[in-house]
Amino acid sequence: MQMHKILSNYILDGEAISVNEYGNGHINKTFLVTTSNNAKYILQQINGNVFKNPEDVMRNIELVTDYIRTKVALSNQDSSRAALEIVPTINFSNYFKTKDSYWRCYKFINGAKTYEQIENPRQFYQVGKAVGRFQRHLKDFPIEKLAITIPDFHNTPVRFQKFLEVASEDRYNRGLGVFNEVKFIWDRRHIMGIIMELLESGEIPYRVTHNDTKLNNVMLDEETDEAICVIDLDTVMPGSVLFDFGDAIRVGASTAAEDEQDLSKVKLDIELFTEFSRGFLEETKDFLVPKEIENLVNSTIIITLECGMRFLTDYLDGDKYFRIHRENHNLDRARTQFKLVSEIEKHKDLLEQIIKSLL
Ligand SMILES: Nc1ncnc2c1ncn2[C@@H]1O[C@H](COP(=O)(O)OP(=O)(O)O)[C@@H](O)[C@H]1O
Ligand SMILES: [Mg+2]
Repeated sequence: MQMHKILSNYILDGEAISVNEYGNGHINKTFLVTTSNNAKYILQQINGNVFKNPEDVMRNIELVTDYIRTKVALSNQDSSRAALEIVPTINFSNYFKTKDSYWRCYKFINGAKTYEQIENPRQFYQVGKAVGRFQRHLKDFPIEKLAITIPDFHNTPVRFQKFLEVASEDRYNRGLGVFNEVKFIWDRRHIMGIIMELLESGEIPYRVTHNDTKLNNVMLDEETDEAICVIDLDTVMPGSVLFDFGDAIRVGASTAAEDEQDLSKVKLDIELFTEFSRGFLEETKDFLVPKEIENLVNSTIIITLECGMRFLTDYLDGDKYFRIHRENHNLDRARTQFKLVSEIEKHKDLLEQIIKSLL
């Protein structure tokens, strides 16, 4: 049996007695391994379609998690749940390769859980703390050590060029039906480059970014809901802290699902925005540079616009990238993002005030 063969490459605490599919992840295949000594591990098959260089992905994860653990241990705090911990193979590799797949093993983080849905604003405050703490731990990390595993991931101008190409080709004759959406993007072409320009001019630093700061990638303490750590580090890369802030708000502070068809339901939840920002800034306000803080609200607009633009690009390109479950699914997704952008724009002054009040 394949599982057995994979596990035989690891020295676990006891014999593996059960291996069960685990969690609600969409990218990787995740298994929970339990041993005769009641030790637990997470075994994951890395999605080879998304990650072309699993070696680089794993090296990034190892560098970042070792760095965090060392830093926490040096400050005499408990580092056991501070970050994911890779279990090496018997050959001291951070992954195991079979003929056609890559695997990795993590220690199970005990007494913590991830949420699919936020239950109360306080949880989102803790999520903000986890995302902010990740930045704080890594603020002096030697960024040049990280591989760029997905080039131009949040390079909004590059995404815009791609969108223009696909829209002008219009191979599926869908362009006419989305005139308003195309205009929405076009009208915002001058703001979408702000983060990349600041990075390229050196006005804001490249930092370790997580790039997938969704709710279910943050572990909170099972009993107290306190922030434990961020997980799912596959997309860790050099980037801007604004990518993570913007994306966390885009996903977590929207009042509706990403593919909601009734756009009147799509709003920005101001309380959730406030709570996330409060947790995030408690951890980061003393080392973020002024231009980063000044652009937090802009980042929520830019990253949401970028995401909508990607959905619309895929719609115009025949739905090749994002899997669809109904007709116009990607168009619906694009529309929720643009609605959210409008909502953020409408409340921009208030959101800026909230950020100021938290500093
Ligand atoms: N080290 C770990 N300890 C405990 N639970 C984990 C650990 N790693 C992952 N999980 C659980 O498995 C789920 C899926 O893992 P994740 O790495 O986010 O995969 P995906 O990339 O598929 O989203 C997480 O949401 C979390 O609940
Ligand atoms: Mg995940």
